[in-house]
Amino acid sequence: MIHEKLKGFPTGFLWGSASAAYQVEGAWNEDGKGISNWDKFVRIPGKTFKGTTGDVAVDHYHRYKEDISLMAEMGLKAYRFSVAWTRIFPNGKGQVNQKGIEFYNNLINELIKNKIEPILTIYHWDLPQALQDEYGGWESREIVEDFTNYAVTLYKNFGDRVKYWVSLNEQNIFTGLGYRMALHPPGIKDEKLFYQVNHHANLANASVIKQFRKYVPAGKIGPSFAYSPAYAASSKPEDIMAAENAEEWNNHWWMDIYAWGKYPQAAWNFLERKGLNPKIEEGDFEILKEGKPDFMGVNYYQTTTYEKNPLTGVTEGHFNTSGKKGISEDTGIPGVFKTINNENLERTNWDWNIDPTGLRIGLRRITSRYSLPILISENGLGEFDKLEEGDVVNDDYRIDYLRSHLGAVQEAITDGVEMLGYCTWSFTDLLSWLNGFQKRYGFIYVNQHEEGEHNLRRIKKKSYYWYKDIIKTNGKTLI
Ligand code: BG6
Repeated sequence: MIHEKLKGFPTGFLWGSASAAYQVEGAWNEDGKGISNWDKFVRIPGKTFKGTTGDVAVDHYHRYKEDISLMAEMGLKAYRFSVAWTRIFPNGKGQVNQKGIEFYNNLINELIKNKIEPILTIYHWDLPQALQDEYGGWESREIVEDFTNYAVTLYKNFGDRVKYWVSLNEQNIFTGLGYRMALHPPGIKDEKLFYQVNHHANLANASVIKQFRKYVPAGKIGPSFAYSPAYAASSKPEDIMAAENAEEWNNHWWMDIYAWGKYPQAAWNFLERKGLNPKIEEGDFEILKEGKPDFMGVNYYQTTTYEKNPLTGVTEGHFNTSGKKGISEDTGIPGVFKTINNENLERTNWDWNIDPTGLRIGLRRITSRYSLPILISENGLGEFDKLEEGDVVNDDYRIDYLRSHLGAVQEAITDGVEMLGYCTWSFTDLLSWLNGFQKRYGFIYVNQHEEGEHNLRRIKKKSYYWYKDIIKTNGKTLI
C-alpha cells in the first residue's frame, strides 16, 4: 500500500531508548550483588569476542546520573532498562538485598525527575547462577515460583512509579541460544530440553503477568519478542511453505502463547511425532491463558528469508560474532525450512539484513493476528564507529537506518497499527553480548574497548542530535 499522505505519530508517543543491566551497569560484584549466569559464562575461554566481560560494561551503575542528564538534554521521553535479578536477590530468592532496591529506586526517581518515562524489563537474560546450580534454572518448573516472587518484589517496590513493564526479554533468543546453539549460558545443545525450558519460561511469563494485575492495576505489561518476519525465497510453492513453517516455528510458537495461551498446531504435531514437544502438566494451559499481555513488545532487527530444506538438509551454521562481513552460514530444520541470503537486501558487517519494510510487515502481521497494541522495545544498528578528531562520530549510516525504520513505523501507523512507542537500541554504547564493545549501537559513544585505553568518557554522536530533533517535532522532521 502506498499512502499519499502519512498520519502523524500519536500524542504521547514514547520516543525512547533501551538497554539491559548486564550490558551497561558493570559493578558486577558490588553492593551485595550475586553472581549471574553471564558473570560465569564470560569467564569461560572462547565464549565472547576477545574474552570481553560486563564486569565494568559502560559503568552505568556509577554514572547513571550523567547518562540520564544526557537523555534529558536530548529530550528522550522513555528509557527502557532491565533490573539485575542478582542485585535484588543475590541467590535468586530468600533475603532481599536493600542496596539493589536502592539503586533502582534512585535510577527511577532520577528518570522521573527528568520527565523520562521508565520502562522496566524484569528479565534480560542474567539469571542468578545460584538457581542454575540448584535446579538447572529454566530447566526446572521451580523457576516459576522464584521468578514470580522476584517480579512481585519489583511490583511492590517500583509499581507506584513505573507504569510500563516488560516481562521477559527475547525468550526465543535466550532459550534458543542457551539450549540449542550453546552460544549463551548454560551453553547446552539439546533440542528436547530447549522446548521444555521454553515451556517453563512461558509459564513464568504468564504467572508474572497474572500477578501484575493485582499489584500494578493501572500499569501495562508485555513480553519483548525478537521478531524476524519470514519471507519466502521465491514464488515456488515449496519455498512459500518453508516461509509459512518458519513463521509458525520461529514466531507463532511464542507469540500465540503470549496472546492466546496455545501452541500452533502444525509445529506441535511435528514435534510430538519426533518426541520433542514439551511435557505439559494439568492446568498449564489455564495458566498460560491468564497471562495475556497489554501489548506485544517487538525487538526488530531484520527479516529472514527461507526456502525448502530436504529431510537430509542443513541444521546449524556459523554465527557472525566478529564483524567480518559474509561469514555467517545458513541454518535450518530438515524437512521444515532453511535460511538463505536475500539478495535484495543490504547487510551490516555482522550479516544482519537491513530491511525497514520488513518492520512494517511485522507490525501489520501482529496487528492482524493478535489485535494488540505494539511497543517497539528495540531497533537499531550495530556497527563499527570511528571517533574522529575533535570528539566527532559521524554515524550517518545509523541515522539512515533509524530514519528508514521510523518511516516504516509511520507507514504502519497510517495502515492502522496501534503503536505505543519506539525504543532505539541503545542510548549509550554498551557491551554486545558475544561481540564485545566493537559492535556499537548508541547515540553516545563510550570510550570502552576490548583492548587499550578506555576511560569510559561519553561523547555525543551525530545521531544524538538527529534523534533530538525527531523527538522535538514528534517525528515531523522525518519526512
Ligand atoms: C537483542 C537483545 O537481541 O539484540 C540485546 O535484546 C542485544 O540485548 C541486541 O544487544 C543486539 O544484539 P547484539 O548481538 O548485536 O548485541
